[in-house]
Amino acid sequence: MTSLMNRQYFLASRPVGVPDASNVPFRDVPVSDPAEGEVVLRNQYISLDPAIRGWMGDDPNYIEPIAIGDAVRSSVIGRVVKSASPAFAVGDVALSVGAWEAYTTAPAAMLNKLDESAGVPLSLFLGVLGPTGLTGYFGLLDVGRPQQGETVLVSAAAGAVGSVVGQIAKMQGCRVVGIAGAEDKCRWLREELGFDAAFNYKTCSNYVAAIRETCPDGVDVYFDNVGGAILDAALLCLNKYARIAVCGWISTYNESHAPGPDNLWQLVAESVTMQGFTVIDYMDRFPEGVAQLAEWVMAGKLQFREEMVDGLDNILPTFLRLFDGSNQGKLLIRIPE
Ligand SMILES: NC(=O)c1ccc[n+]([C@@H]2O[C@H](COP(=O)([O-])OP(=O)(O)OC[C@H]3O[C@@H](n4cnc5c(N)ncnc54)[C@H](OP(=O)(O)O)[C@@H]3O)[C@@H](O)[C@H]2O)c1
Repeated sequence: MTSLMNRQYFLASRPVGVPDASNVPFRDVPVSDPAEGEVVLRNQYISLDPAIRGWMGDDPNYIEPIAIGDAVRSSVIGRVVKSASPAFAVGDVALSVGAWEAYTTAPAAMLNKLDESAGVPLSLFLGVLGPTGLTGYFGLLDVGRPQQGETVLVSAAAGAVGSVVGQIAKMQGCRVVGIAGAEDKCRWLREELGFDAAFNYKTCSNYVAAIRETCPDGVDVYFDNVGGAILDAALLCLNKYARIAVCGWISTYNESHAPGPDNLWQLVAESVTMQGFTVIDYMDRFPEGVAQLAEWVMAGKLQFREEMVDGLDNILPTFLRLFDGSNQGKLLIRIPE
């Protein structure tokens, strides 16, 4: 045993509605020495993703729900402080599935070693060069399949995934329209990311009218990050053979019984393809995606925002900001060394 102590936020009960500290309290436990083939990471960045809210429930999901009593699962980047694997030395940096915790112990085979020598800020491997950017890249290009001249509509457009989607759609020669929940977010989309139009759904009384006004030629690809009433409105604005890439339904994640969309008949009326996906579906193509995203970032063609909040003890209130829209881009917890 070592003398290291690990602060962990764990799932004590499944939240109904917005999670609170009674659902996700913390405990301090000793860090065990790694078993053969394992390493111990001292976490530096913890990714905060809306999907974590889904894993706190027990509905069927694309990965197992978090078990009651387990630390809250999250992607992490950390530095190796103990290694029982020849593949990792103390001081190496790796990305891993970890948890809301200061130290993650994981099998070396599950870690992705990161190269610090290129000088790329490590946090980007959880954001624009990591699962977030890859979700936008594969979701738009493979599921949305935009063609030059088509109109692409994106919800949660100023968020981590949405902002990547819109910029890639612009690079494909599309008209791009974003939906976001604040004026400053809409301004950022139009003035800095090159979106053709954006509107604020929080001050909009008629989503269908707003979509029709900003998408005068109709919608060919709807990249859906939110579900709910915005999806319902988008369904009424689709062109023949439109594609809906269902990336996430954040408007429903804190609801016990979210109503389904009313306007699904439009799939028949307009011969629409509606396809859900997860970034995990594309794991074997991650190197291709990271290389392309990195090239665009280096060339200044792909901008991103990330917001880092210091301190593991801020993790739950920071996580909840994903659901009130106060995050500005990719949201991370940083645990200073
Ligand atoms: N399929 C996959 O593999 C995959 C992978 C990663 C993420 N996702 C999904 O992608 C979506 C975006 O995730 P992200 O990590 O990029 O987060 P994000 O967009 O950076 O942050 C979440 C944003 O969602 C918006 N939002 C929150 N509640 C909303 C509501 N009730 N109605 C409309 N918008 C709402 C807020 O922006 P506003 O200010 O605009 O309201 C908030 O900033 C989520 O649905 C997530 O589950 C899917």
